[in-house]
Parts: sequence; C-alpha cells; structure tokens
Amino acid sequence: MRTQVGIVGAGPAGLTLGRLLEQAGIESVILESRSRAYVEHRIRAGVLEQRTVDLLNGAGVGERMAREGIVHHGVELQFDGERHRIPLSDLTGGRTIVIYGQTEVVKDLIAARLATGSPLLFEVDHVAVADLDSDRPAISFTHGGVSQELECDVVAGCDGFHGICRDVIPPGVLRYFDKEYPFGWLGVLAAVAPSSEELIYASNDRGFALHSMRSPEVSRFYLQVAPKEDIAEWSDERIWEELRARLETVSGWTLSTGPVLEKGITAMRSFVTEPMQFGRLFLAGDAAHIVPPTGAKGLNLAAFDVTVLTRALSAWYGSGDASLLDGYSQACLHRVWRAQHFSWWMTTLLHTFDHYDAYDRRLQESYLDYVCSSVAASTTLAENYVGLDMPDH
Ligand code: FAD
Ligand code: DHB
Repeated sequence: MRTQVGIVGAGPAGLTLGRLLEQAGIESVILESRSRAYVEHRIRAGVLEQRTVDLLNGAGVGERMAREGIVHHGVELQFDGERHRIPLSDLTGGRTIVIYGQTEVVKDLIAARLATGSPLLFEVDHVAVADLDSDRPAISFTHGGVSQELECDVVAGCDGFHGICRDVIPPGVLRYFDKEYPFGWLGVLAAVAPSSEELIYASNDRGFALHSMRSPEVSRFYLQVAPKEDIAEWSDERIWEELRARLETVSGWTLSTGPVLEKGITAMRSFVTEPMQFGRLFLAGDAAHIVPPTGAKGLNLAAFDVTVLTRALSAWYGSGDASLLDGYSQACLHRVWRAQHFSWWMTTLLHTFDHYDAYDRRLQESYLDYVCSSVAASTTLAENYVGLDMPDH
C-alpha cells in the first residue's frame, strides 16, 4: 500500500487530521489498534473551545454538534460555602465554550470518513514505523492476520500518550518535560439531569470535585482521588456520598443522583516533548503533550496541532515549500506551553495537596477569592479557558 500521509491512531487528533487533509486534497490512511466501538465509547473530554467548534464546523462535521452541543457563557467556581460565576463571554468579547462529548466528536469524524470511503482500519496490530529519516518512511502492521506495509511521504504520530511513534525517535533527539501530580480523577457518567446549568469547579478540604454534563438527561462528574486508588473501592453509593460532601456546601443547593452509567480513574500528569518532529515523523495531540484535565485543554490542543500540520503539508505538497513543516514544532509549542501553564495553574488552584499546611491552604483560598473578585484575575481565567488568540511562531 502507498499513501501520502500515514496516520497512526484514530483519536481526535488522527481523525481530525484525516478529515482536514481530505479537504485539502491530500490522501491518508488511518491505522487504529482498537475497535470502532471502543474508540467511540471511550469517555473523556467534554469542553470544546470556540475555535475547536469552528474547526469542526469548517471540516463539515458540525451538524450534530450544532443540534446537541450545549453552549455555555460562564463557569462556576465554588469554595468556602459560596459559588462564584466567571462570566466567560462577558470577559472575552462574547466567546463561548460548547459541551459536546469527545465520544460524539469521534463518532461524527468516523462517520464522515467512512462516508467518503477514505481508508480507516480498526484493530490493526504490530504497528511499527521505519525509515523516518529517509523520504520514504513506512508503517508495517497486521490487519485481519495479514502483514502489510504502508509506504508514505510523511507519518503522523497521533497515537496518544501510550503510543509507539514517540519511542521510534532515536535517543537524544527529544527532550521531555514532565510533572506527576499526587492525585488522579475519578470520572463518573450518570443518567441524571444536571443539577446546575453551568459547570461547577469546587475546591473543598476533602478534595476537588467537578460537576459537568453531557445532555439534559446525563451528568458528568469528577472527584480528586489518590493516584493509585482502586475503582473497586468506589461503590456508586460512596461516589454519591463523596460528591454530595464536596458539592453540597452551598446552602439550599442539592445534588440530584441517578444510575451510574460508567466510572473510571485517570492519573494526572503534565508532559511535553520537544521538538514534536523527527525527519518525516510529526507527533500531534497526546502523543506529544499531556495536560491535567482541570483546564479542559487536551482535545483542543490536539485540534490545533493538526490544523498547523495540515497547513504545513498543504504548502509542501502545493509548492514544495518545506518551511512550515520545518517550523511545525515551534508553531505548536507556543500554544502547548500556554495550555501547560493554564492547566497546571487551574490544578494547583483547585486541588488539595497532602503536603499543604494551614498557611498554604490560606494562600490558596486568598488566590481563589482574588480570581473571583478581580476583573483582571477572572479575565485571565476566562481568556485561557475559552482559548487564547495566539500568533503562530
Ligand atoms: P487519544 O485520544 O489518546 O487517541 C490516540 C489513539 O491512538 C487511540 O485511539 C489509541 O487507541 C490509538 N493508538 C495507540 N497506540 C496505537 C498503535 N500502536 N497503533 C495504532 N493506534 C494506536 N481535553 C479537553 O480538551 N477538554 C476536556 O474537557 C478534557 N477532559 C478530559 C477528561 C479526562 C478524564 C481525560 C482522561 C482527558 C480529558 N481531556 C480533555 C483530554 C483529551 O481527552 C485528550 O487530550 C485527547 O483524547 C487527545 O486526543 P489524541 O487523538 O491526541 O489521543
Ligand atoms: C469535563 C472535563 C474536564 O476536564 C473539564 O475541565 C471540564 C469538563 C467533562 O468531561 O465534561
């Protein structure tokens, strides 16, 4: 087999890249190790920046999102028995965020890809990438028990944090920056109407809690837990009890409960690789960087990377000009580091840390108070949360 761009991974990065390339008249083959059902039901992100929404609309996959996505103009921060609204749109010249599950974005992108007949292979095994420093890189894999080789001009490593592409790059080329947090998030999807119109980010002595949603009938919650926590220790009853303890601190407000549809624990880390490319391999999305989910940035960053990559590949195929491809990492990393800082900042602002003493906790409370009472400080949160306009570098 031969194609122009070989894409490893059919998460948001790989599928969006495939779609954008198709619009630009560039051929690609997407290889995914999991089944279609698995990738369509892997519950993760929920918050789309307006620029991501615009990108998906421009890519012709926004029809269902326009019907089912929930537009939000603000978020709530809760601490010390009070809730404070951050009016995102008022502070950012009218920008909004849209709540639309990553599962739904992925379903829409897969449906669009299959409708055009462009190659997208699920359940491939033994994926290996070779000859990255030549002008004919190749991806070998097995599909349906048959070994195959895909010759490409370029390989896009969109295979997430645990993928294989990053590790193919020879030692000494990449520099890693990372930070692990002493906690994880227990995520819960529940068949119950949201108890709040807007997202609630709650700081509590028992740990952070987040109330989000997916639809008028389905709510999404997160609880800060120990990083190695066993999900078997968390009965549905215990989850509701803990959510109540952390969220029902505002007088008169109660949390509605319902059947738990799904629950799981994710470790939290920050990670960046520099550069995001080697020879003819370009890393995009979680393969190149991870943020803790408190800032809701991961999927949005993946969408930005592949926009930059598409622009660079279009210029290269169009006129032979490789300068945008050469500058791919630099163009992405500027935004990546802004998102890194914002995600770390939101995380340290809202979570409890075992090593914090009473003094540290008071500092955190004071900072939260400042973020909610100063226009300058709440604008900092708002403009980062809805997505900053940043020049490409
Ligand atoms: P992935 O989604 O990880 O996709 C990579 C794909 O590659 C997978 O399908 C995988 O199966 C496949 N793959 C791996 N190895 C191979 C291989 N060897 N061969 C072939 N295929 C392979 N982000 C936001 O923007 N907003 C949010 O609100 C938000 N909330 C989050 C909440 C949680 C609890 C978590 C865990 C994440 C959240 N994120 C959020 C982050 C977001 O989900 C990720 O950043 C996003 O999934 C990255 O997309 P990706 O395509 O780069 O990687
Ligand atoms: C959701 C996830 C996040 O990481 C976040 O910051 C806000 C909402 C969600 O899944 O709905």
